Amino acid sequence: MQSPFFFTTILCSLLHFAAVDDRILFPNQTLVIGQTLVSQNQVFEMGFFSPGKSSNRFLGIWYTSTPDVVAWVANRNHPITANQAASFMIYGNGSLVISSGKSII
Ligand SMILES: *[C@@H]1O[C@H](CO)[C@@H](O)[C@H](O)[C@H]1NC(C)=O
Ligand SMILES: *[C@@H]1O[C@H](CO)[C@@H](O)[C@H](O)[C@H]1NC(C)=O
Repeated sequence: MQSPFFFTTILCSLLHFAAVDDRILFPNQTLVIGQTLVSQNQVFEMGFFSPGKSSNRFLGIWYTSTPDVVAWVANRNHPITANQAASFMIYGNGSLVISSGKSII
């Protein structure tokens, strides 16, 4: 069983993220499952999603007004399975990186 501290820490980091800005991802800052980035004009949203009834997760960009309409998928051929953690990050050199555990997808 996870300690309450664990959940408090997670919750605080999520709230912190939401409160700071959902439009900016700084170098080395991670975007995890459940978090999204919203474009400045609020047309696009980016994050991990599961299409339809699939439990696989993909990093994608969709229309905020119609989340079922996905405009771009990063890891189409390398889905993240339901039980895997995943995060997205932009390195300081501009490379986009999706990680799961210690491996880079
Ligand atoms: C990001 O992390 C790398 C590796 O730990 C580090 O070398 C780099 O300075 C960091 N960049 C920023 C902007 O924090
Ligand atoms: C950015 O840094 C990573 C880690 O050092 C490296 O694997 C990647 O090739 C670099 N990307 C570019 C565009 O130089």
